[in-house]
Amino acid sequence: MSHYKIAPSFLAADFGNLQRDIEMINNTEADWCHVDIMDGLFVPNISFGQDIVKVIKKYSKLPLDVHLMIEKPEKFIESFREAGADHITVHQEACVHLHRTIQQIKATGAKAGVALNPHTPVSSLYDIIEDLDLVILMSVNPGFGGQKFIYRTIHKIKELKEMITTRNSSTLIEIDGGVGLQNAEVILQAGADVLVAGNSVFHADNPQLAVYALKNLGISGLYA
Ligand code: DX5
Ligand code: ZN
Repeated sequence: MSHYKIAPSFLAADFGNLQRDIEMINNTEADWCHVDIMDGLFVPNISFGQDIVKVIKKYSKLPLDVHLMIEKPEKFIESFREAGADHITVHQEACVHLHRTIQQIKATGAKAGVALNPHTPVSSLYDIIEDLDLVILMSVNPGFGGQKFIYRTIHKIKELKEMITTRNSSTLIEIDGGVGLQNAEVILQAGADVLVAGNSVFHADNPQLAVYALKNLGISGLYA
């Protein structure tokens, strides 16, 4: 369990103090900076676009893990890469030609990921898993931070881990939505590699301590 990564989600940051929050996260053991892009069409909410990604890139020391919750993501891959995305993840449900879109992401030099909504089966990745650097399993319906973790995700993690191991692939499993100290260990034990954490970090009394506790599960019994 020691090599897992923590990716704070800046959707829960204070947008009026974005630079401050980015620098605050720079001074933690966080591994990636999770950046949620919402278009008000694929999901019922709008977040922000490329210009804010550029600001995050300017101040963050971490790889930018950009999660595109948008329709027709193929239209925006190059512009998010230029804005500073290191990983670009598209939704399976938003891509008619998923294989082509994954190759398009890779052609920009970014790591390529696919996200699955809670109702989308892991088996839908069977014919593309080896092409993916990461899979985001949504453990809430995408669109908002601060929602309750859908427990069925634990079974999906195990199924996906089995697929990845059987195929000898190095694809990472990232869990997004409702993750915190209350469920992090069971998620990791099921086979996850990366935990996204929005509210459980930015809305904690001490966000830096929250990252520390998530990153040091097992030795952080004090904070559980
Ligand atoms: C949900 C987003 C998540 C969200 C997670 O649509 O994709 O990344 O920011 O927030 P929490 O951790 O608060 O559920
Ligand atoms: Zn996300």
